[in-house]
Amino acid sequence: MITCGDDFRTIWLKDGDADVVQVIDQRRLPHEHRIHDLRTWQDGVAAISDMCVRGAPLIGATAAWSMYLAALTSKNPIDEVRAAAGALRQSRPTAVNLHWAVERVLRLVENAAPGTDIARLICSDAQAICDEDIEICRRIGTHGLTLLDEIAKNKDGDTVNVLTHCNAGALATINWGTAMAPVYFAHRQGLNVHVWVDETRPRNQGSQLTAWELAQHGVPHTLIVDNAGGHLMQHGQVDIVITGTDRTTRTGDVANKIGTYLKALAAHDNDVPFYVALPSTTIDWDVRDGIAEIPIEQRDPDEVSHVYGMHQGNPCTVKTTANDTPISNFAFDVTPARLVTGLITERGICEASETGLTGLFPDLATT
Ligand code: MRU
Repeated sequence: MITCGDDFRTIWLKDGDADVVQVIDQRRLPHEHRIHDLRTWQDGVAAISDMCVRGAPLIGATAAWSMYLAALTSKNPIDEVRAAAGALRQSRPTAVNLHWAVERVLRLVENAAPGTDIARLICSDAQAICDEDIEICRRIGTHGLTLLDEIAKNKDGDTVNVLTHCNAGALATINWGTAMAPVYFAHRQGLNVHVWVDETRPRNQGSQLTAWELAQHGVPHTLIVDNAGGHLMQHGQVDIVITGTDRTTRTGDVANKIGTYLKALAAHDNDVPFYVALPSTTIDWDVRDGIAEIPIEQRDPDEVSHVYGMHQGNPCTVKTTANDTPISNFAFDVTPARLVTGLITERGICEASETGLTGLFPDLATT
């Protein structure tokens, strides 16, 4: 399997069986490439909360497809879609695309004319959400590429070193990714680009997903432990940081995988530009103060006390802590807008501020 490219998708209807939605089981990568079937909306909720699928845009798309499954498997499709919506909203609290997709599909269903085939209606909207996401990521890639081009010019063609955290590549979206789209586009056009990939404890999205994705495409990259970024920046080894985000406030604060804030602080201290790539579906126009208002997901302590990997050819999980070690597992943090050099969106690059965002998206910025 190659991630990205014109045919790649992270979620799709099973060939020849429109009752089944299929996804890549991201819990198994990079050691196993398993396709996971979703047959009920409850399967969709479980796929999101167990992180079989993850990444804000893919979580949103999975929610839409789960509502399709709800309509398909019930004699009272509208009631079932409402029930699914309630459970989906609770499945992961931080990524706002989830709420965006649930509300979009619900609105469609509530406004449907009597006698409408609800499952078919949601099916085409879920498909549209996926198609739109691919186009959005393509545009983010094109806009972000201008930044990498500029750095390459200033370095006379020397390697452009990008640092990223978590996985905001094709696997986190439907295709291309957000933070990694500019990198894929740069690599495709022959730019000398190299990515420092943060391991991203505790779920290791960097080592298990980003590094794997980049390798699939032959993009030069190096895995580093989460705490190495500051050291690399002090030694001129990072030209730009690009991360994704799960929720961006209308004032430009960004919630992303835990540890992103520390990268932004180190970047600020070392004059390294810190950019965040996002589709407009990730903007929460109702929130102004990210630190005070964005709910931060706390996950199972087992994610911290155990690591997943391979042993003698078999995938396995091992415990690394003592039995009685108290554990907290905050999954996200918020980087304040003042530490963000710019936001790379599908409509261009803007300042991380209300002026910047409302300037690009006047049609979405409800007062
Ligand atoms: O917990 P995850 O793996 O869903 O967290 C994902 C991230 O933090 C990504 O960087 C973010 O969703 C942006 S994805 C385009």
